[in-house]
Amino acid sequence: MDITVVGAGYVGLVTAAGLAELGHTILCVESDLTKLAQLNEGKAPFYEPELDTLVKYHSQHGNLKFSDRITGNTIFICVGTPSKANGETDLSALWDVVYALDRPDLVVIKSTVPVGTTTKVAEFLGCQVAHNPEFLREGSALWDFLNPDRIVVGTTDKQAARTLQHIYDDLVQAMFIVTDPCSSELSKYASNAMLATRISFINEIADICDATGANIRQVAFIVGADKRIGSKFLNAGCGYGGSCFPKDLASLQNQGKEHNLQCPLIHAVQLVNKKRVSYVCDRLERLLGTLEGKRVAILGVSFKPNTNDVREAPSIRIYHALRNKGVDVAAHDPVANVLPSQRPVVYDVLRGAHAACLVTEWDDYSKLDWRYVHSIMRQPVILDCRNFLDQQYLKALGFDYLGLGVE
Ligand code: UGA
Repeated sequence: MDITVVGAGYVGLVTAAGLAELGHTILCVESDLTKLAQLNEGKAPFYEPELDTLVKYHSQHGNLKFSDRITGNTIFICVGTPSKANGETDLSALWDVVYALDRPDLVVIKSTVPVGTTTKVAEFLGCQVAHNPEFLREGSALWDFLNPDRIVVGTTDKQAARTLQHIYDDLVQAMFIVTDPCSSELSKYASNAMLATRISFINEIADICDATGANIRQVAFIVGADKRIGSKFLNAGCGYGGSCFPKDLASLQNQGKEHNLQCPLIHAVQLVNKKRVSYVCDRLERLLGTLEGKRVAILGVSFKPNTNDVREAPSIRIYHALRNKGVDVAAHDPVANVLPSQRPVVYDVLRGAHAACLVTEWDDYSKLDWRYVHSIMRQPVILDCRNFLDQQYLKALGFDYLGLGVE
């Protein structure tokens, strides 16, 4: 099918490349001319594993084209819907696209939108409209697109549901769920809120481990072994970041507020996450005695591995909190480069440091020559904020190692 994907951000470009991979012919529309020039050279404007390869391949084979003009009859809207300062969702980019459409047959909203938005768009356009949320994790977005657990279509239009079923025909392993637009819209927020809740929950349990001597790795393993609970998203650490969880929880709380609902659980999830930064600083202080005048090497800046995205990254909050406490902070990341004191060679960051603070669990860090690192650090101290490194090996090398909840 001929499909137009509007927006070449994380969701849009992955959707465009994924739909091309499913055999469709895609026009991907991007209004930023610098990004457009990059795309026309077959390059993704951000780092996502395998995306460059797929963009280049499908561009060369003529089934993925880029433009700054919206044309076509089947339109996937994949523009950003950021949070405003008050938690409200900024839908201006979405409405700009809707106003620009010229009597399409079908409009599919992939952007995460507050409950009721799809219905308003359908009323305005008077054509087939469906909500089709994405459940793509940065860093494995293409895999997620091509191997979904479920495909959700929120629409009141039977023809729209049939067309979407045809578009995703090849993804036979996925559960295909057709529902009303409001339930589809809320299911996206609820999924992210559920995952964020698990993270804040396990982080709170990790703090209790630190206080009592239990080990969060053991506790999470035992809890996750219950099939009713499952083991995913129970990795304790310095908290969640990224463009999705913080924004979607803020939006969910705001949508509740508009209906006079307080949503205390969502509030608590956000609060626990916010407090991770001061907890990390406390743990470092415990390791180093005092923080002022010390040199700390932050390992990992992106909000998680395999992406260069630093939006709401815990590393940035930890960086500023440590600087405010008089710490000389240097940082390294294999891909992301945003902090003023970043250096490209990880050993240069660790040389002379009083402590290494691992914030993002990039594979590269487990492969460091830790024996050498021990010889170049001023103090062989590691705070592993993701419980990622080999604790026993590092202790055997003589490191003073501390994780979160694994004492
Ligand atoms: C998340 C969801 O996982 C996707 O399903 C969703 O489509 C996407 O948001 C979105 O709304 O667009 P993403 O933000 O890319 O994807 O990243 P996740 O892998 O979910 O990780 C989010 C944060 O949680 C990261 O900072 C990660 O380090 C943290 N995390 C994750 C933990 O602290 N512990 C865990 O056990 C898992």
